This record gives sequence, C-alpha cells and structure tokens, in this order.
Amino acid sequence: MEYLIRNATLSDIEGIMTIEQLSFEPAIMESRAVFEERLSIAPDCNMVLCSKVDGAVEAYLSAEIWSKNCVSPEAFALNHSPEKKHNPNGSLLYISSFALAPHLRGKKISFEGKTGGLAKRFFSKALETLITTHPNLKEIVLLVHQDWKKAQHIYTSLGFQQVKVLTSFEDFNGKSALIYEKKL
Ligand SMILES: CC(C)(COP(=O)(O)OP(=O)(O)OC[C@H]1O[C@@H](n2cnc3c(N)ncnc32)[C@H](O)[C@@H]1OP(=O)(O)O)[C@@H](O)C(=O)NCCC(=O)NCCS
Repeated sequence: MEYLIRNATLSDIEGIMTIEQLSFEPAIMESRAVFEERLSIAPDCNMVLCSKVDGAVEAYLSAEIWSKNCVSPEAFALNHSPEKKHNPNGSLLYISSFALAPHLRGKKISFEGKTGGLAKRFFSKALETLITTHPNLKEIVLLVHQDWKKAQHIYTSLGFQQVKVLTSFEDFNGKSALIYEKKL
C-alpha cells in the first residue's frame, strides 16, 4: 500500500484541519481548538492515513472514549469538550469524525489479495488498531448525517447498525442525525 496508518499527533493538526474544511460545511465543522484538545487528551484514539511518498495526511479518524452512562442526545453536540467526556477506562468508543481528502475519494486499493475502497480500508484498519490497544472497549458509537450515504454504507458494511434517529438535530440545521452502534 502507498499509505501508512498511524496514531495522529498534534503536529498533524494542519493536515487534519485542511481535510475537515474540505469535507464539512462550516456549521458542521468542529473547531481547531476541539481537535487539538482531543489530540492532547486522547492521543491514542486519533488515527491518520498518510502518504508514504511525502508524509501528507490524507484521511483522519478522530475519537474519544466515554463512560457508558454518559450517552445522551446532548452528548453528541459538536464542539463539546473532549476533556470533560474522555475516560480512558470507559467502554464506549465515540467516533467524532472521519474524512478522506477529496482527491482520493472513490479510490480503490488492493490489499491482502482483495480490492476495495481506500476509505473503508482506512476506517476498518484504524478501528482494528484502536480496539486492539483498548481491550476495555465494548461498543463503538457514531453519529452520521441523514444525507451522508457513502459513510452510512461503510458503517453498515462493517457491522454497524442504526439504533436511533435524532430528528431535527440542531447541529445539522434541522436535518436528522442517525446514531450507529457496533457491539464488540
Ligand atoms: C465518507 C468518505 C470517507 C467516504 O470515502 P469515499 O472514497 O468517498 O467512499 P467510496 O467512494 O469508497 O464509497 C463508500 C461506499 O459507499 C458506496 N456508495 C457510493 N454512493 C452511495 C450511495 N449514494 N448510497 C449508498 N452507498 C453508496 C460505494 O459504492 C462504496 O461501497 P463499496 O466499497 O461497497 O463499493 C468521504 O466521502 C468523505 O470524506 N466525505 C466527507 C466527510 C464525511 O462525510 N465523513 C463521514 C462522517 S460521519
């Protein structure tokens, strides 16, 4: 593979924010301060896909760990403080964001004799790493906009199930947010 997947560090912030800005409308973006806080507070929960040629960040997956008892619709609000929510000993991995640089979208790669989407390959490999390094995890949860069909397809193809719909979700300008979950 021409790419490597590794833990993200604070020095990746420019690359991450560039992809974030190219991927989401301003109202849906999380701020740089929140990304920096998450990278500092939960460094081993954030992964990037990098080019082996020039080291450029081409995709990121951003996450934090929650205690099971702190899940509520309000918990999913954009720009909440990761420091207040993250509990390294918790059992629930919350994926706060995931995006691939636009110039690589739709790209297929060959890996271990199979051909598949780069985005799905990155997402599944990054999750595999997070699960291996956090044996206390029991489930994964994420929230997706009703219109983001490609992301939904990736999640369901990897065993996530839609468990709830938050109608008129404020951060999505009144559109629905779908909550997906995967038990480990
Ligand atoms: C989401 C994202 C990472 C997906 O990467 P991508 O390279 O564009 O995705 P792909 O083209 O590989 O498509 C993913 C899958 O969705 C399928 N798909 C494409 N259009 C679809 C549609 N309208 N409905 C359902 N499935 C669709 C593809 O066929 C592919 O499935 P396959 O691998 O089984 O063939 C990327 O589009 C992105 O960064 N988007 C902006 C940020 C975002 O939406 N992030 C998700 C946050 S929850």
